[in-house]
Amino acid sequence: MKPTRITPARITFAADGPPSAPDFGDVYHPAAGALAQARHVFLAGNGLPGRWAARPRFVVLETGFGLGNNFLATWDAWRSDAQRCERLVFVSIEAHPPRREDLVRAHAGSPLPALAAELIAAWPPPAPGLHLRDFDDGRVRLLLALGDVERLLPALRLHADAVFLDGFAPARNPAMWSPRVLKAVGRRAAPGASAATWSVAVALRQGLATAGFEVQRAAGIGGKREITVARFAPRWRCEPPPTPPRDAIVVGAGLAGAAVARALARAGIEVTVVDRQPVPAAEASGNPAGLFHGTLHPDDGPHARLFRAAALHAAQVYRAAVAAGVPGAVSGLLRLDQRAGGADAMRALLASSGLPGAYVDVLDAAEASRRAGVALPAPAWWYPDGGWLSPADWVHHALAAPGVRLLAGRAVVSLQRAGARWRVADADGAVIADADAVVLANAGGAQALLATAGAAGSAWPLRHTRGQVTWWPCSTPLRLPVAGDGYALPLPGALLCGATREPQEPGESANDEPARDADHRHNLQRLQRLTGLAPPDVSTPLGGRVAWRCHSDDRLPIAGALPAFTLPAGQRLEQARRVPREPGLYALTALGARGLTLAPLLGELVAAMATGAPWPLEQDLADAVDPARWLVRAARAGAAATAG
Ligand SMILES: Cc1cc2nc3c(=O)[nH]c(=O)nc-3n(C[C@H](O)[C@H](O)[C@H](O)COP(=O)(O)OP(=O)(O)OC[C@H]3O[C@@H](n4cnc5c(N)ncnc54)[C@H](O)[C@@H]3O)c2cc1C
Ligand SMILES: C[S@@+](CC[C@H](N)C(=O)[O-])C[C@H]1O[C@@H](n2cnc3c(N)ncnc32)[C@H](O)[C@@H]1O
Repeated sequence: MKPTRITPARITFAADGPPSAPDFGDVYHPAAGALAQARHVFLAGNGLPGRWAARPRFVVLETGFGLGNNFLATWDAWRSDAQRCERLVFVSIEAHPPRREDLVRAHAGSPLPALAAELIAAWPPPAPGLHLRDFDDGRVRLLLALGDVERLLPALRLHADAVFLDGFAPARNPAMWSPRVLKAVGRRAAPGASAATWSVAVALRQGLATAGFEVQRAAGIGGKREITVARFAPRWRCEPPPTPPRDAIVVGAGLAGAAVARALARAGIEVTVVDRQPVPAAEASGNPAGLFHGTLHPDDGPHARLFRAAALHAAQVYRAAVAAGVPGAVSGLLRLDQRAGGADAMRALLASSGLPGAYVDVLDAAEASRRAGVALPAPAWWYPDGGWLSPADWVHHALAAPGVRLLAGRAVVSLQRAGARWRVADADGAVIADADAVVLANAGGAQALLATAGAAGSAWPLRHTRGQVTWWPCSTPLRLPVAGDGYALPLPGALLCGATREPQEPGESANDEPARDADHRHNLQRLQRLTGLAPPDVSTPLGGRVAWRCHSDDRLPIAGALPAFTLPAGQRLEQARRVPREPGLYALTALGARGLTLAPLLGELVAAMATGAPWPLEQDLADAVDPARWLVRAARAGAAATAG
């Protein structure tokens, strides 16, 4: 797949008029003012704020984020409204995001300076895909989708209650108003949705009507005599968003469980987290520290895009956690690269990827060494948003979120459906908890629980690898996490290196493995190769910890709704996304060696699926982690064998 390159907007600022885009020959808003237009056309035109009154969630879909004026006006209206919805989700698509300095300039005299400052502080790097930003404790969510509307809109999963159509003028920017785009808008409209735009172009009005909207004219503003308002009233049946669960059980209190519990609680769901260990994060997520960062691949396929989206989101979440006292640092990470051609070959790859330096850059060995504080043997990829974190502390922090209850020391041995609810029970058959939804976030144990619920035939090809980390107290010159063949993390007053990777041997159990001296030696040798740092004196006592990583056979995690236990006769299995689901049952597991990077975003994905909120990932990336993907692969293999 050819990587998508995001070209930031070229914006011209005039002393006496609105900012304009020379590439489109149009202005960002009328001279009457961006806020006046936002309030009259987009808010009032969609019946807002009245239509969101007392609703648990209201979703706005916008085409053309531009300078974010409509978003700021909507957020401001939400804040000022005593009858506001509990949660506002604003999804906006933008092909040419402004550079941060242009955003600052555009909002220099903003009538909403505090909101504009928050938006600017949260402004993402121009990397393609979805960027999730939460404001007001997550009650206002911006999902900024960077890319071309025709490509990106069909990849979004959401049910819009109101649509703001705000491209440049149709004659100058036809791609934003094409029948295809309007049809895709209709496909994402919730029953009773509205739409509004300042344009009254005939083709637009016809396109909206074809997409299922009843179209009307309303009084205009600022030189526009009329505007277009519309109500979604299709002649065909349209899918309502799923009813959110009132409560949910999460089995497992590691990174996966904590991330999904946090996301569900922020969506207003009462969550009970159950773990067999007496304290959370006592298994794979219990190391003193781990690293997180993105990735780069020439074809920018699903794996690279998923890890990029996850790493960019993790940096947001962990920055806030570190500010709240969780041990860690989000101040960059170096990943050494020994490829032939060195830094020049890496620069060529970076240039062909089109990815911004704010996401990943190339440093030659001298510059990488200067930043690291030690002599490094090779050039490095520089991930400015990478870093390290104490996973266990983050798990505790996430589980302390309001709305999350922890039941520790309770092993779940069975999962049963009880009417419309799910029940988890212990070895004596005593019910530990029951809820509308359940998320299996108990690593390799998820399969056994599914079997108790009667999910025959949905086995995932999971495997486990043993890993050991090594650390000791010291004052180290290393200033940043360095990864490559192994990794080295400078912690306050200590250095941690790791990690070994060995397949599970028969008879090895998950929890009672002691650290091995040979594995410490292995970690220390790799540390020396990676950073040139000498191992500690033999008299120094080494800290060590062993745990098990859980992987799937395609090295991608498992996140999402589980396939129905009984599929309808003749069900076609060509695409995972069309496989029917078992109501209220989800999984988040197989995070492999990248749980810190993956957990926060995939926790949000699972919560969005469970609550019917807009998904924070494009459909094809959700497909890549779909728990049903092996059903489809098995069906394809079966069909190929029959054909052969
Ligand atoms: C040595 C080592 C180094 C690593 N380094 C890094 C790193 O630097 N960066 C990184 O991102 N990742 C790293 N990882 C991987 C990372 O630790 C994992 O991806 C992550 O911890 C997995 O989280 P999890 O919540 O899926 O699993 P776990 O943390 O294992 O959580 C599963 C939980 O489920 C509970 N449970 C299981 N069965 C039941 C049941 N029946 N009833 C109730 N509770 C149950 C368990 O008690 C456990 O708490 C490393 C892993 C190892 C082993
Ligand atoms: C009028 S401006 C939007 C103003 C914005 N709603 C605001 O409140 O500031 C139109 C926007 O559409 C974007 N755009 C143009 N063509 C696009 C396309 N094909 N896909 C996505 N966005 C596009 C432009 O880059 C521009 O930012």
